[in-house]
This record gives sequence, structure tokens and C-alpha cells, in this order.
Amino acid sequence: MTVNVDAIDLSDIEFWAKPPVERDAAFAVLRRERPLPFYAEPVIEESWIPAGPGYWSVLRHADIEHASRHPEIFSSAAGATNIFDLPVEFLEYFGSMINMDDPRHLRLRRIVARAFSPRMVTRIEQDISLVAQSVVRDLAAHGPGDFVTEVAARVPLEVICRMMGIPEDRYADVFRCSNTILGAQDPEYVPEGADIATALLTAGAELAELLSGLAVQRRETPSDDLVTALALGEVDGERLTDQEIGSFFILLVVAGNETTRNAISSALVALSEHPDQRERWQGNFDAMANSAVEEIVRWATPVTWMRRTATQDTELAGQSIKSGDKLLLFYASANRDEAVFAEPDRFDLNRSPNPHLGFGGNGPHFCLGAHLARKEITEVYRELFTRVPDIRVSGEPQRLRSSFINGIKHLPCDFTV
Ligand code: HEM
Repeated sequence: MTVNVDAIDLSDIEFWAKPPVERDAAFAVLRRERPLPFYAEPVIEESWIPAGPGYWSVLRHADIEHASRHPEIFSSAAGATNIFDLPVEFLEYFGSMINMDDPRHLRLRRIVARAFSPRMVTRIEQDISLVAQSVVRDLAAHGPGDFVTEVAARVPLEVICRMMGIPEDRYADVFRCSNTILGAQDPEYVPEGADIATALLTAGAELAELLSGLAVQRRETPSDDLVTALALGEVDGERLTDQEIGSFFILLVVAGNETTRNAISSALVALSEHPDQRERWQGNFDAMANSAVEEIVRWATPVTWMRRTATQDTELAGQSIKSGDKLLLFYASANRDEAVFAEPDRFDLNRSPNPHLGFGGNGPHFCLGAHLARKEITEVYRELFTRVPDIRVSGEPQRLRSSFINGIKHLPCDFTV
């Protein structure tokens, strides 16, 4: 496939509608010929968000590692998950600690990391197995259908809701709101012509309200769930406010649902396209599970990029960066970087070593839920291979129109009943 480097525009939403293999080919050309290209910001018609000055696209593995490990130079406080500059209140409301630098980030992360204590994680792990079993049992009972709605989307959502202690009759609301927040650029979730900011705010407010209500209840009557741990947890005598708990929940729902869901769906696509790899894993599930899951996350790279903003003049990839410049760290490109991965376009469930950046570069924001996500992917495939061992993709994946999330909205699957 020949690609003209000047014809590549990472700000063009049509670029993100292309099949992954075409995007990977474009990234390969950029890494070779222009590893730190600068793009004008995407245009959002009829929006109150002002167009900004543009951004550097960091494409090489080593440069992303460098930026991730130097948060004092490459800051998250101006927003890690949006290209546009948004008011700080908006960022903290939606992104909690992902949009903060230390020491504020560290304070929140310490309280929250305590809530992910070994006891809590063990309890959650048992829940994950149970959720995977019930979801795959339902799939087997209903017969072939949409793998995303029947399996991939259900598992992470139910795990987070159970972990938080959300009442079951509110799961569907959580699902709808998280779709709106992450799929805001896609007309299936926010109709064309509707105001994206209003849709985002309404969905966020609904999630935050649900959580602050639960936090109040748990302070009065503690339970064995994450909301209780968050509502009562203290670091240096400080507790989270209801607002902070609400915002953290928005972050968890968004960060934990859509990402894991897309890893699970992309895995079915990859396994269907690579029957040899699949056969190997099915024949040796436990021994290969760890390396298989890492390769699935590398291959899928559910989060395409995170943003940083330079706090001082610096240099990256031989290029001068000015204080205030924006940078997008393209994990999708780093995870195919031929300087790090032998045959990066080969799906290899035994790949070792596999220093992918799917969960972020190794900095202070490294994915808090990486362990949970790995466990979810493992348990879903354990159940699928046991109950519906010949499950496979039976039609074209319908992809999310987003530069930020490498998402599959619908995926027809088939298996022998
Ligand atoms: C395959 C699934 C997942 C992927 C690919 C993924 C990816 C990421 C990435 C790329 C980051 C940013 C890292 C950085 O800026 O250096 C991140 C942060 C985060 N993730 Fe995940 N994630 C996944 C699953 C989860 C799950 C299941 C949860 C929680 C239940 C979660 C919670 C978080 C949180 C709270 C942060 C922010 C951490 C901070 O700012 O300190 N993620 N994740």
C-alpha cells in the first residue's frame, strides 16, 4: 500500500473512519518520514468550542515514553482526553485525576488506589468470573447476534457497576451516559446538529448525581463496595468530596467500559482473522493467557491517544516545542513501531517481550484499571472458548467514528448452537 505523507491528515474525521490496516500504513509512513507532524485542530461545526492553534502528533514509542515520564514538562492539567481547550472546571468534572498533575493528581490517586486494595481486587476478580459466565451463558442461550451489545459491552459495564454498588436497574442509564460521553462525535449517540457540549454535560450530570446519591447513603450505611471505600477513605486526614467521587465515577465508567469493551471486540476480529493463533490459544489457554491478553491490547490499542501540554520550551524528536504547545501521544502508532516490535503487523499471541503502550506510557497516569481489564479479557475468552468454542465474526465490524477511541459499535458473530 503506498501512502503519500502529505495526504495524511490526522485531524480529518474521515481518516478515523478508514479500516485499521490503512491507518496503520499511514502511521508507518509518518514514523519514517515525519515522526512529529503538526496538524491544525479538527473543526467542529456550530460549536461554542473555539478552534485552537493545532497540535504535535507524537508517533514514536521512545518519544511517547519520554513525554509520559516527564509530566513536569508534558502536563495533563490542560486536558488529557480532548484536543480542544476546555474550562478547567469542565475538565475536572469529566476527567477527574486524568486531567490533573501532581500534587493534586497524586492526592486523588492515593485515595483511589487504596480503594483498589488487594481485598477489593480479589472480590472484584470473583465478580469478573461470575459476570463473564452469566454473559456468555446468555449468549449461548440466545444464539448468534451482535457480539458488542451481547458480550463485549456488557462485561465491563456490569463489572464496574457491581464493583461500585450501583443498583441493577440503573445499569442501562450508566451505559447510555457513557456512550454519549465517549461517542459524542458519532451520530448514533449524539444526533447530527445536536449540541455536543449540552449532550456531554447532561450525561455527566446524570452519572455524577447517581454517585453522589450513593455516596451519601454509604456514609450512613457502609457496605462492601467501592463507593463506600471512596466515601470513607482518607489520606492524610482528607476525604473525597461528593463532587470528587462523582467525577471519579465518570472517569471510571468511561475509562473502564469503552476501552475494555473494544479490546474484547477487537480480539474476536483478530482471532477470526488469525485462526492459527486462535487454535494455539484454545489448546493452551492458561499458559498463553498473559501474553495473549497483552498482544490483544497492543493489537487493538483501544485508546488511540492521550494529550499533553508543554509547560516549558523543550525538544522532542529533534523538534523545538514551545511552552503551551499541545501534543497528542499516539499509542496506536507506538504500538506498531518497528524500532520496538519485531514484525509489528503480525498478530502473535506469544509475543515476548511486548512493551506496548496500550495502557499508557510508564508515567504517573499509567492505567489504574490495567489489572482489572486484563482479568476481564481473560475471563471472557475463557468462557467463550468453553461454551461457544467456534465463535467467530460473521460480518463487517461497524466502527465508531472517533479519533480518540478505536471502537467497534456492532459486530455480527456466529457459532454452533
Ligand atoms: C483494555 C482496557 C483499557 C485500556 C486500553 C486503558 C487505557 C488507558 C490509558 C491509555 C490511560 C492513560 C495513561 C496515561 O495517560 O499515561 C488510562 C488511564 C486510566 N485508566 Fe485505563 N484502560 C483500560 C481499562 C481500564 C479499566 C477497566 C479501568 C477502571 C475500572 C481504567 C481506569 C483508568 C483510570 C482511572 C485512569 C487514569 C489514571 C490516572 O490519571 O492516574 N482503565 N487507561
